[in-house]
Amino acid sequence: MSIESQLDHSHTQSREVDGPADRFDEDGDAGFLTLNVRLADGSRFECEAAEGFRVVELIRAYGLPIKAECGGSGVCATCHVRVAGNWRERLAPPSDDELAKLDEIATAGEDSRLACQIEMTAGLDGLELLIDPDSLHDRTNQTAG
Ligand code: FES
Repeated sequence: MSIESQLDHSHTQSREVDGPADRFDEDGDAGFLTLNVRLADGSRFECEAAEGFRVVELIRAYGLPIKAECGGSGVCATCHVRVAGNWRERLAPPSDDELAKLDEIATAGEDSRLACQIEMTAGLDGLELLIDPDSLHDRTNQTAG
């Protein structure tokens, strides 16, 4: 086997990896984005994100306590987040289905979105949002041990 074909073979293997670490821009740099998540208690989390990932996936990957009971299917409305004002117009507008789900949330407002319906793009680098208290796990119901 020639050097060229060995190199070509290893290149093919490296392309089988899929995930945030496999996403690079044209310069070969990892094109990571930042997602800033706040909780109602004032805590803040800076999450590494990548294009194409849904916000709810990133929040869960960081172990933050969002309910997201339907796993991102857009049917439970328990991934309710509040998007900071200057970011709202940068998001893709909500679909009719998302608007219908938001209508089911009594406390929803102009800043409300479903985290499973927001996909990270380069234009959303630095996105700031708050997980609505209604969509947080109630840790007080968990028993120790
Ligand atoms: S996770 Fe159920 S609607 Fe978003």
